[in-house]
Amino acid sequence: MASLSFFNFLILFLSAIAVSDAGSVGINYGRVADNLPPPDKVVQLLKSQGVAKVKIFDSDSAVLTALANSGISVVVCLPNEQLASAANDQSFSDGWVQANIAKYYPATKIEAIAIGNEVIAENITDTTKFVVPAMKTIQASLVKLKLDSNIKVSSPVAISCLGNSYPASAGSFKTNQVQSTIIPMLDFLRETGSYLMVNVYPFFAYKDNSKTISLDYSLFKDNPGVVDSGNGLRYKSLFEAQVDAVYAAMSALTYDDLKLVVTETGWPSAGDAAEVGASQDNAAAYNGNLVRRVLTGNGTPLRPNDPLNVYIFALFNENQKPGPTSERNYGLFYPNEQRVYNIPLSQKGLNGNQSPPASNVNQTAPVNNWGGVSKATSGQTWCMASPNAEAEELQEGLDYACGEGGADCGPIQPNGACYNPNSLVAHASYAYNSYYQKKARVSGSCFFSGTAYVSTQPPSFGNCQFPTGY
Ligand SMILES: *[C@@H]1O[C@H](CO)[C@@H](O)[C@H](O)[C@H]1NC(C)=O
Ligand SMILES: *[C@@H]1O[C@H](CO)[C@@H](O)[C@H](O)[C@H]1NC(C)=O
Repeated sequence: MASLSFFNFLILFLSAIAVSDAGSVGINYGRVADNLPPPDKVVQLLKSQGVAKVKIFDSDSAVLTALANSGISVVVCLPNEQLASAANDQSFSDGWVQANIAKYYPATKIEAIAIGNEVIAENITDTTKFVVPAMKTIQASLVKLKLDSNIKVSSPVAISCLGNSYPASAGSFKTNQVQSTIIPMLDFLRETGSYLMVNVYPFFAYKDNSKTISLDYSLFKDNPGVVDSGNGLRYKSLFEAQVDAVYAAMSALTYDDLKLVVTETGWPSAGDAAEVGASQDNAAAYNGNLVRRVLTGNGTPLRPNDPLNVYIFALFNENQKPGPTSERNYGLFYPNEQRVYNIPLSQKGLNGNQSPPASNVNQTAPVNNWGGVSKATSGQTWCMASPNAEAEELQEGLDYACGEGGADCGPIQPNGACYNPNSLVAHASYAYNSYYQKKARVSGSCFFSGTAYVSTQPPSFGNCQFPTGY
């Protein structure tokens, strides 16, 4: 009688997979900009990149509507300005949940509500005292509507709420906030089956200590690692050490059972001279290696069985963010939906069987080490000339494609079917795409010194038909 039916075996097999479940990668969709695409276009972009989770910083109606029935889950935020009202007035929270959550759920897969953003941080402010009371009234509103089992309430804390974070095993919360805020919050999270939200930026630690912290260690590149003098565990990345400092801080208060989600992490692709480490190569390495680490590895040294779940900051460069240059350059995409650099954002992307993302980087030579070149095997894609490229460079790319490159440029000659519109961008697009299709859309064949990008949308230039394969 010891034989397992195939069905039972399958169940065991599937649960074994579930136990070793990799983590998840979501993206923060910030909108402090005046040049972003409309939300429905953004949802298409997210889907084309296999991104299944986003986090927003408000509860914008157009965004929540665009996300409906998209399969993409979303963390919404009750903004800091509303915490006092929510904390002091249950009817305010009831109304807020009705208008901002119940109105969209379940068509829009709202999975959590972030109560404020980084109110719990380095210092106690006038708003700090409202965080936990606001969490409680919002939770009570969800309970009334029977939404509480599917929608969790938490509050993203800044890692600066730790008084000590090195070594990771000695992580502890700032003592002046422990009794007033931290313990009440952790109690709330435990009672409601929620989790801690924490924002983790190794970039800041590196920027301020670039003489003592290794860049490779900060970027998840190959490095000897750093041994934690408290428990002997070896850390291969600063990110993991920072996450474990938070876990250690919770353990020190005997909240070993609570989990956490990294609600923000990222690395800027540009910065001021003083912002050491802010660069496109470093951002590509950090975010690309983070994705690979999260999707292929297990948890952290202190919590190896708890998958790492992260939200990258951010989807777009946001031109209206104040502060140093880096603040406006955390995006994975430019507002025109071109990639700032090319990294995978999903399991499919990692395996190399996702359409290459719109990219203006040299894909033949990945600047990071997430996994080499890949070939587009699914989905129709086209190679287009970037409207922002220098005319001279476009002309060079066009000449190369039509000459040595062997593209079919007959249709863009005078009297050809694609001569009109007679513009450099249109002609280069036609030639680039012909070259790309002839090369079977292999990665690197849509580059042309950075003047080209891969599009998942069929091009439309007048009556011209763009070839889709040879
Ligand atoms: C926290 O307070 C200290 C001491 O007043 C101050 O130097 C620091 O800039 C404050 N930090 C933040 C993030 O406001
Ligand atoms: C891409 O980078 C590789 C390696 O640096 C180089 O050999 C190749 O010429 C580059 N391709 C283009 C189109 O610039």
